[in-house]
Amino acid sequence: MEIKITKTQNPTELAEEGTLGFGKHFTDHMFIMDYEAGKGWHNARIVPFGYISLHPASTVLHYGAEIFEGLKAYRLADGSIQLFRPMENIRRMNDSADRMCLPKIDEQDFLQALCEFVKLEERFVPHSFGTSLYLRPYMFGNDETLGVHTVKRATFMIIGSPSGSYYAEGINPVKIMIENEDVRAVKGGTGAVKCGGNYAASNRAGEKASRVGYSQVLWLDGVHRKYIEEVGAMNVMFKIDGEIVTPMLTGSILPGITRKSCIEVLKSFGYKVNERLLSVDELIEALENGKLEEAWGTGTAAVVSPIGRFSYAGKEYDVNGGKIGEVTRKLYDTLTGIQWGKVEDTFNWTYKL
Ligand code: PLP
Ligand code: COI
Repeated sequence: MEIKITKTQNPTELAEEGTLGFGKHFTDHMFIMDYEAGKGWHNARIVPFGYISLHPASTVLHYGAEIFEGLKAYRLADGSIQLFRPMENIRRMNDSADRMCLPKIDEQDFLQALCEFVKLEERFVPHSFGTSLYLRPYMFGNDETLGVHTVKRATFMIIGSPSGSYYAEGINPVKIMIENEDVRAVKGGTGAVKCGGNYAASNRAGEKASRVGYSQVLWLDGVHRKYIEEVGAMNVMFKIDGEIVTPMLTGSILPGITRKSCIEVLKSFGYKVNERLLSVDELIEALENGKLEEAWGTGTAAVVSPIGRFSYAGKEYDVNGGKIGEVTRKLYDTLTGIQWGKVEDTFNWTYKL
């Protein structure tokens, strides 16, 4: 694929690495490619970062035809840069496209776009451990009509955001509220793909949680409001009485790439990981009788985030005295070690630029 590059005339100053936060700063450029039925993807270009204009009837503005991905470019101690399992994100984006009737992208073209973009924005990949260039590929339907149908036009973009920790808490445990009113997804819906609407619909519960000092909500299944599913931006794992448990992929949970990687890392430590249904009653019982030893979330932005407190139906429960647990710590060290090139990548997950 040919990518036309137009460089900015106004390079921005790099933000201070210690104050990056998540998703607040952006690089100098963005990747854009257009799709039209009959013509396919065309006009791949990298242009100066800036506003885009859309027709007021553009499909995405009315009917939410939007999907996205999230992955990171990591700086190693020798100055080189690597991605983590980029093909997994590429394939998941195409699965999301399939579900939302948006056009798929050739895997190699997608990978090339990511690599060329990161190479051009190389100076924005921060150097401190725990920081990275967060990459956000996304696609939206862009027909200029109010009819509800599969789109004939779409736009694919990649933007980059030099970022630190997703949660203000960093590696310190976060507080998670178990939501028992709103639901995020049902089987047959869009919970298993990354479409913007999933997040828009989850904000009301998120607001409720944040009003009482909680970072995010833990969703229960949409049919019975009984089984644990996932947190707003991460999958969840628990250590209950020595057993590592994570909700099985029932069709309404996002199949996280970090989740999948953590399962493999835990297996390499010798743990058995049980992907099964886990009811909120079982979780509360384990919290009440002290059998919930550890809980953590997994996600690209969130990495491995210890959970130090849950709230459910007006009651609060501490996990491991509100401190990070042993397995969570070991998992965090190993995964981040592989991502930032400090631990040998025996799984062959990293992709050098
Ligand atoms: N679940 C949801 C709803 C998410 O938004 C994310 C973040 O991408 C995850 C789980 C974790 O997925 P991954 O590990 O692929 O980033
Ligand atoms: C990611 O971890 O990449 C995500 O997409 C989470 C996001 C909603 C902040």
